Amino acid sequence: MTYTLWVTFFLILFILLQYTSADLVSIVCAQTRNNTLCSQTLYNSSEYSNNTDAKGLAYIMIGAALDRAAHNLVYLKGLISNQTSTKPNNSNQCLQVCYKDYSLVVKAIIPNANQSLSAGTTFVAAVAILYSADKILDCQDEDCVKMSSILNDKCNEYADFAQLVADVLRVTPKKINY
Ligand SMILES: *[C@@H]1O[C@H](CO)[C@@H](O)[C@H](O)[C@H]1NC(C)=O
Ligand SMILES: *[C@@H]1O[C@H](CO)[C@@H](O)[C@H](O)[C@H]1NC(C)=O
Ligand SMILES: *[C@@H]1O[C@H](CO)[C@@H](O)[C@H](O)[C@H]1NC(C)=O
Ligand SMILES: *[C@@H]1O[C@H](CO)[C@@H](O)[C@H](O)[C@H]1NC(C)=O
Ligand SMILES: *[C@@H]1O[C@H](CO)[C@@H](O)[C@H](O)[C@H]1NC(C)=O
Ligand SMILES: *[C@@H]1O[C@H](CO)[C@@H](O)[C@H](O)[C@H]1NC(C)=O
Repeated sequence: MTYTLWVTFFLILFILLQYTSADLVSIVCAQTRNNTLCSQTLYNSSEYSNNTDAKGLAYIMIGAALDRAAHNLVYLKGLISNQTSTKPNNSNQCLQVCYKDYSLVVKAIIPNANQSLSAGTTFVAAVAILYSADKILDCQDEDCVKMSSILNDKCNEYADFAQLVADVLRVTPKKINY
């Protein structure tokens, strides 16, 4: 074969491989509740490359959930330390409860979900991620909302994102041998 033919052959193969990988993200994300957020999260991740497989996509989503929960934990820490009054009341107690919940999400629940994914029990991973959204419902009670509506927005965003991650976990097992 001539050099030009080889180059053409490899170029076509290269384009096909790229197409397949880009397609995996669209196939997976199209089956979730928020296609845009799903694709952006995957493409924006430093862990994403064109040959990331379905399981790799699931790892990225769990990692993104951890980042979001960890950010909210830092925000809460600031909120709590900014309180001028040391007198305990319902509102600041609510923040403490919320803080404990987020700590549990960051230190135990999401790492457990990640381990379940490693072990191949994707369903268990999805349940754990959904449980993390339930866990922070404490942060959305009236007393906490009074303290900070921004915190409430952040919690709603996290809960929505957790549902999205669960969607990806639901879709990816079918695509692992894609
Ligand atoms: C998808 O997520 C983005 C960012 O959180 C949000 O602005 C948008 O409204 C969501 N779209 C749908 C269809 O839920
Ligand atoms: C992805 O990156 C773009 C460009 O930096 C940014 O506008 C967008 O908000 C990011 N989306 C997510 C979900 O990280
Ligand atoms: C991955 O694919 C995108 C879109 O097709 C392309 O822009 C990028 O250069 C590719 N990256 C690598 C490392 O091949
Ligand atoms: C999840 O587990 C994988 C494989 O064990 C690891 O590479 C990754 O860093 C873990 N991610 C998180 C968010 O713990
Ligand atoms: C805490 O107070 C500092 C200084 O007033 C402010 O910049 C920061 O945004 C506050 N943090 C929170 C979480 O409200
Ligand atoms: C509770 O205490 C916080 C400061 O710790 C204060 O900002 C808030 O107004 C108090 N709430 C009520 C209902 O007294």
